[in-house]
Amino acid sequence: MSSNPGGGTRLDPWFGAYARRTHGLRVSETRALFSVASRPEVVSLAGGMPFLDALPMDLIAKVTADLLATEGTVALQYGNGQGHPTLRGQISQVMAEESIQAHPDDVVVTTGSQQALDLVTRVFVDPGDVVLVEAPSYVGALSVFKSYEAWIEHVPMDESGLIPEALAEAVKRLSRAGRRIKFLYTCPTYHNPAGVTLPVERRVEVLDICQRAGILLVEDNPYGLLGFDGRITPAIRSLHAEGVVYLGSFSKTLAPGYRTGWVTAPHAVREKLVLASEASILCPSHASQLSIAAYLENCDWLGQIGVYRQVYRERCDAMLSALAEFLPECSWTKPAGGFYTWVSVPEGVNTKTMLPRATTALVAYVSGTAFYADGQGERQMRLSFCYPTPERIREGVRRLGGVLTKELELVALFGPHGPGPDVTGPAADVTGPAPDVA
Ligand SMILES: Cc1ncc(COP(=O)(O)O)c(C=O)c1O
Repeated sequence: MSSNPGGGTRLDPWFGAYARRTHGLRVSETRALFSVASRPEVVSLAGGMPFLDALPMDLIAKVTADLLATEGTVALQYGNGQGHPTLRGQISQVMAEESIQAHPDDVVVTTGSQQALDLVTRVFVDPGDVVLVEAPSYVGALSVFKSYEAWIEHVPMDESGLIPEALAEAVKRLSRAGRRIKFLYTCPTYHNPAGVTLPVERRVEVLDICQRAGILLVEDNPYGLLGFDGRITPAIRSLHAEGVVYLGSFSKTLAPGYRTGWVTAPHAVREKLVLASEASILCPSHASQLSIAAYLENCDWLGQIGVYRQVYRERCDAMLSALAEFLPECSWTKPAGGFYTWVSVPEGVNTKTMLPRATTALVAYVSGTAFYADGQGERQMRLSFCYPTPERIREGVRRLGGVLTKELELVALFGPHGPGPDVTGPAADVTGPAPDVA
């Protein structure tokens, strides 16, 4: 038998034909677990799904109906590769909330910021190039980087986000080893999955380190406007437009079903991104773009973000007090916005092997291992508070507390777990994010 790097099978007649970059691609068992997690009796603390019941659906329905009645043949037609100029202008205004001054020409509309990640990586990364990422990092970004055969190097974080000294050390070490670092990927505000935010002083330091080393900074910021107290931290892009590629999204502040995000980039980079996007999708959905443009024009979108903030703040409070009550052996981050908290479990417990037992107990989370490309994360898990009601969150954390208690008893009896069954795919593999894990 020959080796089977892609996890494929000889029953597949194309087994030998796949490109090398697909070898790490695997459907993980997490997907199966998440199909269980989506059953109503399971409290899912796993997904990054916004709470769409908080949207003014009637108003959105009316605005969309008016759009189709008046401009239907335009909305349902192909558009241009860079995105509709009206929406790009509005996106500039959205970014102004984060102190970014960008001309609409700097903006490329994408199919969610996930496509923006794909485009940026396609344009910059050759196989073996280094991409620096936080430890932990957004699972969907890791899968993109892996699929372009990047070398993923994690840089440690603490409760204030990426540690500048650790970044400087990584840059020095890799440069000395002759490695090409293509960019730093960071989610500085209400981090997915860690829930932490990089303070302004650190933003300046991180940018400075990248500038000195000639490293592009890719700032992924889908949660930036979702601070619980309404305060908005200036985006890194606002500090230095030429050195930063900024990714934004309407998925968390409006709705992911539109699949609309954007990338704002220095002029020359933007040109390349447009060409890459045209080659891949011709143009982003015109219907989605014009629907969002009509929504931004006719509805109180900032007021709606205020509604979301309130909902998520209540849910975060419910999560944090339930953690204090039911998981006192653990520690966790205290988010000031966004969707997630990052929980560390006691030594000896493995969140990856515990996950099937948790789903059996009707609660789901994402094991920390999903957020690393190098096998770390077994003692962490991501809990999201965006979707379930506060009561369900409390119940979910209560169930999780029961699972953890049993797990600790097992650890006391038999010692710590080994690696256990592969429930998220080997860490070095690309385990594409199931949509509800994003
Ligand atoms: C940090 C981060 N980046 C990108 C994305 C992708 O979002 P989109 O729906 O805009 O593709 C997500 C989704 O959860 C995310 O959390």
